[in-house]
Amino acid sequence: MPAIVIVGAQWGDEGKGKATDLLGGSADYVVRFQGGNNAGHTVVIGDATFALHLLPSGILSPTCTPVIGNGVVVDLEVLFREMDGLIERGVDPSRLVVSANAHIITPYNVTLDKVTERFLGKAKIGTTGRGIGPTYGDKMARVGIRVQDLMDPSILARKVEGALVNKNQALVKVFNRRAVDVEGVVDHLLSFADRLGPHVADTALLLNRALDRGDMVVLEGGQGTLLDVDHGTYPYVTSSNPTSGGASTGSGIGPTRIDRVLGILKAYTTRVGEGPFPTELVDDDGERLRTIGGEVGVTTGRDRRCGWFDAPIARYATRVNGMTDYFLTKLDVLSTFETIPVCMAYEVDGQRVEEVPMTQTDFHHAKPVYEELPGWGEDISGIRDFDDLPGNCKAYVRFLEEQAGARISAIGVGPDRDATLVLHDLLP
Ligand code: GDP
Ligand code: IMO
Ligand code: MG
Repeated sequence: MPAIVIVGAQWGDEGKGKATDLLGGSADYVVRFQGGNNAGHTVVIGDATFALHLLPSGILSPTCTPVIGNGVVVDLEVLFREMDGLIERGVDPSRLVVSANAHIITPYNVTLDKVTERFLGKAKIGTTGRGIGPTYGDKMARVGIRVQDLMDPSILARKVEGALVNKNQALVKVFNRRAVDVEGVVDHLLSFADRLGPHVADTALLLNRALDRGDMVVLEGGQGTLLDVDHGTYPYVTSSNPTSGGASTGSGIGPTRIDRVLGILKAYTTRVGEGPFPTELVDDDGERLRTIGGEVGVTTGRDRRCGWFDAPIARYATRVNGMTDYFLTKLDVLSTFETIPVCMAYEVDGQRVEEVPMTQTDFHHAKPVYEELPGWGEDISGIRDFDDLPGNCKAYVRFLEEQAGARISAIGVGPDRDATLVLHDLLP
């Protein structure tokens, strides 16, 4: 009954899509368990590049059933647009299963995400503007709209009405916007009901039965550890739990059934949006990483902030996720650098600190303490065997492994599925 969780170890965009796709060929189910279409997961198969936002990357593996778990927030318009886009490209998304308990991103939540950010001004989070925060807010405040509500129009209308009581006050009186009309929202949501109906299921039951049969389930995280609402750089985070614990609550698979936690770890660091980032480079090296690594957001098209590898963050990710393995991605991007600094610790107000600081204030003040490692100065993108990597490159990998505290089981040397070096079997 193998279940394996894939989580981002940094601030997202580590290459989770590629890793999921790689395992997707062996998986019976690939499950998204949190987040929504704030994610942008790239899968490159030969000449074809797919950017998936809401659909699990397993949708590209013809034998696997893709599942949107209860912990995901779903924008129905985006869902069907994404499915139609795949159909146009010859991919069949009809196997998709959606949890009846997943929450729906309503148009008013998208509006609220955008106006809230505008009102925050300089204190903004830099969200993707997809309505993620307000939808999870409604879920916790118990005024959310769920997939199953589409099956009962009168309940749906009552719930939308209830949700809009406070929101319309805020929209009109605080944000200077027009009030949202209940009927308009209900009609909009119901327009998707017939198409959605056949995909809706009790996904927790489905997945547990699959594990009972011995099927393989891959749980595909969105975002990353430092964007986790509990464990990330709060408030500069997303509103869900991208860490491995979220895989349990967001899918209905108990933690005892999860065999492996595979952390996706970029060989350097990137971040989109606002918030602290100790190893950020605002110089030519940062620009070089951005250019060589193609570090532009898949969802928003924003330039990603780039910096060196941060070992305290990797250790932190190992700890809060219980990582069993790492997939080190984008190692090829570092090939032209003469020396490669790795952040070993921070200096906070004159003191050396080995781990991620406890408080937000200290993390904002953290300055990286670097150790310089020699580069390898040759292209590694064609290499498929770890032993064939240049000596300095192997040493860099082993150094990161030691710092992170969990074994590196795979290495990415290019965007393509095949551009992968496997050191230990990724399947449990
Ligand atoms: P995700 O959100 O974690 O799935 O990652 P993104 O798709 O947002 O960003 C990762 C980017 O790096 C994508 O453009 C991938 O195609 C690309 N990528 C993934 N692994 C590698 C790798 O090992 N080397 C290189 N050069 N690119 C990679
Ligand atoms: P994947 O799955 C990188 C960031 C946003 C913003 C913060 C909150 O592709 O790794 P939100 O819209 O979620 O309320 O925004 O989180 N963010 C991501 N950054 N990769 C992602 O997803 C992200 N999803 C959200 O930039 O800083
Ligand atoms: Mg991404």
